[in-house]
Amino acid sequence: MKVRKAVIPAAGLGTRMLPITKSMPKEMLPIVDKPVIHYVVEEAIKAGIDDILIITGKGKRAIENYFDKSFELEFYLREKGKEKELQQIEEIGEMIDIYYVRQKKPLGLGDAILYAEKHVNNEPFAVLLGDDIIISKEPGIGQLINIFDQFKSPVIGVEQVSWESVEKYGIIDGNKVEKDIYQVRDLVEKPSRKQAPSNIAIIGRYVLTPEIFDTLKESKPDKRGEIQLTDALKYLITNNQNTIYAKEIDGDRYDVGDKFGFIQVNIEMALRRKDLRNKLENYLRQYKLLEGSL
Ligand code: UTP
Repeated sequence: MKVRKAVIPAAGLGTRMLPITKSMPKEMLPIVDKPVIHYVVEEAIKAGIDDILIITGKGKRAIENYFDKSFELEFYLREKGKEKELQQIEEIGEMIDIYYVRQKKPLGLGDAILYAEKHVNNEPFAVLLGDDIIISKEPGIGQLINIFDQFKSPVIGVEQVSWESVEKYGIIDGNKVEKDIYQVRDLVEKPSRKQAPSNIAIIGRYVLTPEIFDTLKESKPDKRGEIQLTDALKYLITNNQNTIYAKEIDGDRYDVGDKFGFIQVNIEMALRRKDLRNKLENYLRQYKLLEGSL
């Protein structure tokens, strides 16, 4: 079955980005001049997705407003003859069918995904975390959909991380079956460096099948009271003997929910922009010369 629906969980509290996230969803933080979630939605569309469900929560209204049509603004821009801006704003309002459901309490990524059960309606579906940006030639989620089409089993997006940082991620233990593709034997959430079976870490992209919902319903909350998707995937492999694959995504990934990742991706994206590249490069060079002045 073709993967045509995507779920974007965006209901987390974003405590790593406080205080800005006190009144603003982290998915709406600007990467140059577009919010993070705009890039995530674009990635899904480029991969052929035609139906998106965003899991929102308290204080996330700005996301819905952003993708909504804005008649007043369009009228104003038309009146003023600001054609370029008008086109940009019209395009956002017409991007794709986007649906919303609210997670009642932020009880973890696994709990957020459970809210997608009715919408997904027994089809395989893509999951793109609303705070991870992937810059790549072929859309990150599209790379996973290709593997799903080949093996007809769930696929987890992964990347190699430094051994020092394994304790921040879900880590896979897997058999390499092809270049960049693993059959997952086990998953460990945030292991110590010593306990980590590899340095291949789960990043915010998945293709899942509807079996995940029953497993999530059975999953017990972790120490923090959250239902973890990684635990449910582990259960599918170890108890249900399901086959799950992992694919190293070809591209650069940025965790925008982290202060350093947020700054990194802003610089990177600005350097890719014709209208900003020269100014920014000059500024950074000059800044380097002034090093020590802070
Ligand atoms: P994170 O692990 O980044 O958690 O969530 P968080 O709460 O958003 O952020 P921090 O760690 O407090 O800074 C990963 C993804 O899962 C979503 C988030 O919105 C993010 O896209 N999520 C997380 C939910 O939708 N609901 C939750 O209850 C938790």
